[in-house]
Amino acid sequence: MNSINVDDYLITSEVHPFTERSNVKPVVNPQNVVSRFNFTFPLGIGNNQQNELLVDEDGDYLIRRKDSKLNLEGSLLIEHTVATTLSLVGQQIWRGALLLADFLLHNGSCLLKDKVAVELGSGTGLSGIVSALFCSEVICTDLDRGNILKLIQANARRNLCALGLNAEMVHVEELDFLNKEWNDSLKEKLGNISVVFAADVIYDNDLTEAFLDTLCRLLVGYGKQRVAYLAMEKRYVFTTADLDSVAPCYEHFLTCLQRCPLWRHATCLPIDFPQYFNYERGKDLVLWKIEGV
Ligand SMILES: C[S@@+](CC[C@H](N)C(=O)[O-])C[C@H]1O[C@@H](n2cnc3c(N)ncnc32)[C@H](O)[C@@H]1O
Repeated sequence: MNSINVDDYLITSEVHPFTERSNVKPVVNPQNVVSRFNFTFPLGIGNNQQNELLVDEDGDYLIRRKDSKLNLEGSLLIEHTVATTLSLVGQQIWRGALLLADFLLHNGSCLLKDKVAVELGSGTGLSGIVSALFCSEVICTDLDRGNILKLIQANARRNLCALGLNAEMVHVEELDFLNKEWNDSLKEKLGNISVVFAADVIYDNDLTEAFLDTLCRLLVGYGKQRVAYLAMEKRYVFTTADLDSVAPCYEHFLTCLQRCPLWRHATCLPIDFPQYFNYERGKDLVLWKIEGV
């Protein structure tokens, strides 16, 4: 029997039909598109002097709603690929990134203010860019594969400048969960972090195990209190063996988490905070908080 090679198939994120294509030209790959991700700022954020800079001549980045002096709307322009193989899914945007971005927008003032954060498996960098509204420094990491690191850099630069933030506050670094040898520059940068976050990195069992090892390494034994926020999609599949819809990758994540020292410090958070971005927030999306020990 012929075996199936997952990299023979193209995958498209379910987020893409909800997004609006902009006329902005991609800078990393001419085959990419630049999509507009509109969002609303939580009350009290985005109406200060700094964020007044969000209004551009065309009103593209930030519009004061006619019916409210406080509710401000923004948009991120994210270059991404429309369909990729499994190994390049980081070139697309996934719902976990939007759930995480909502959580960070809603809680960033207290959880991220003036902190250094690292994002694991950043993909196009969307949630990392949102965190930069609050953090003093953000380290966005991913595999050095395809155009992923270049995409994060280009997306961070475009959006941070538009947000009136210093583009230098986002650093892009290679961090492969499967490679335990971190170079000195990465080790030094990771020494300063107090928050870790990641979206949608639970979809392959080997990767989940390597991801949790990486998370343990970051959260345990640095001698300072660190916390991680992980957004993920349960990814249900119907199996004839179960005659039901099951979420095997999520189940594997739970099994691995229960086996690791972080388990007693892990909490599944309610996701009833307001939705600022446009996507389908179903019960299949979950958010975990894991505290360092
Ligand atoms: C489904 S995408 C999610 C991307 C982004 N966080 C989002 O939610 O839009 C999974 C991410 O994990 C990254 N990834 C896959 N294998 C990895 C590894 N061994 N080490 C680090 N990141 C990895 C991918 O490159 C990709 O960016």
